Amino acid sequence: MLFGMTQNIPQHITVQVEGFADVAAHAGERLVLALERGGVDILHRCGGVARCTTCRVSFQEGEPDAMTLAEYDKLAEKELLGQARLSCQIECAPGMRLSALQTAASTGLEPGKAPAEAIEPAPEWTTRPGASTEG
Ligand code: FES
Repeated sequence: MLFGMTQNIPQHITVQVEGFADVAAHAGERLVLALERGGVDILHRCGGVARCTTCRVSFQEGEPDAMTLAEYDKLAEKELLGQARLSCQIECAPGMRLSALQTAASTGLEPGKAPAEAIEPAPEWTTRPGASTEG
């Protein structure tokens, strides 16, 4: 399948997921999609638009400092800031090790509508609380 980004050769990386085989991904790919393609039955009930929080993950390593404003607002609303991240709002990067917190198997729910290839809503970026110097 072509994704319309033939100018750049993707950087192949591995995402480690607790309880699952390593997930092959490419840097910049939407994390929720990489996880699902890699065999992780993660939920994405809102279709990847930062509304449901069922795509939540917790990072053991490699948590990105960048956070979309949509993710920030939703995590703050649900009092999940500092506890979980939304995999539909995250781009894959090297060194990620994480747990998927809500799966089809653990909840008995269908994963949900397929997320788009690109992060939705169109990302405006901020920095997660606790990033950098607080670190
Ligand atoms: S918040 Fe619904 S899929 Fe990410």
